[in-house]
Amino acid sequence: MKLNKGVVLAGGLGTRLLPLTKITNKHLLPVYDRPMIYYPLQMLVEAGVTEILLVTGGNNAGDFLRLLENGEAFGCSLHYAYQRGEGGIAAALRLAREFATGEALAVVLGDNLFEHGIRATAEQFRAQARGARVLLKEVPDPQRFGVPALEGGRLVRIEEKPQRPASRYAITGCYFYDNSVFEKIDRCRPSARNELEITDVNNLYLEEGGLEASEVNGWWGDAGTFAGLRRLGNLIAEQQAARRAPAPAGA
Ligand code: DAU
Repeated sequence: MKLNKGVVLAGGLGTRLLPLTKITNKHLLPVYDRPMIYYPLQMLVEAGVTEILLVTGGNNAGDFLRLLENGEAFGCSLHYAYQRGEGGIAAALRLAREFATGEALAVVLGDNLFEHGIRATAEQFRAQARGARVLLKEVPDPQRFGVPALEGGRLVRIEEKPQRPASRYAITGCYFYDNSVFEKIDRCRPSARNELEITDVNNLYLEEGGLEASEVNGWWGDAGTFAGLRRLGNLIAEQQAARRAPAPAGA
């Protein structure tokens, strides 16, 4: 499939980071030396996704336009959509319907950072004829995430924040979808927490036999909690120091 369009989801209230998010949007907070939102944008561009829709909401939406302008400095063409309220990740993605114009999409949650980006996974998705692709990562606390049930290494079901996780894996916040994603979102109903869940969308792909999975190589995390924000800041600082360091003698 052709893939040069992407969506970064940066709405939501960021209540897990109060009071940091009382007067600004979570995705404008710093992760080491740059605003959080830079990371998903740069990662998409590195993967060859250069037509990008940013979905945000709340009181600080205008700050994204001031910070990112038209995307030229990032090597992409940036579009904006405004999400009223906090209807969930799938509700935010639904706002990308016109932007997609029937093409496939790479979707990234604005608080997710990946050590090695998503270039390799984007290539795997481009080789698919149809369907979707998610990225899995083994984590110590799967109950905080969407969790896959695996049988013989095959994905059979995904549960959102299960009390008893069926595996030690999290479904990370990066998804690749063909053009049937909007019809699937239309079939979803609000969950117990009154959100349209991206996990329900992924399960619809799974039922059709169209969901593929890749495993994340390197570290992954979400910066939506104080622990996550601090951990990712430290990991980025280490990564940048390693890039600046001279190669060891003999290497
Ligand atoms: O980080 C990966 C996890 O992200 C997945 O494993 C889960 O399956 C998925 O539901 C999600 O869980 P979270 O509870 O961490 O999602 P959160 O509400 O923190 O939202 C993550 C991002 O999605 C947030 O940075 C902005 C965007 N978002 C979220 C909501 C609820 C929106 O743009 N609009 C929204 O209404």
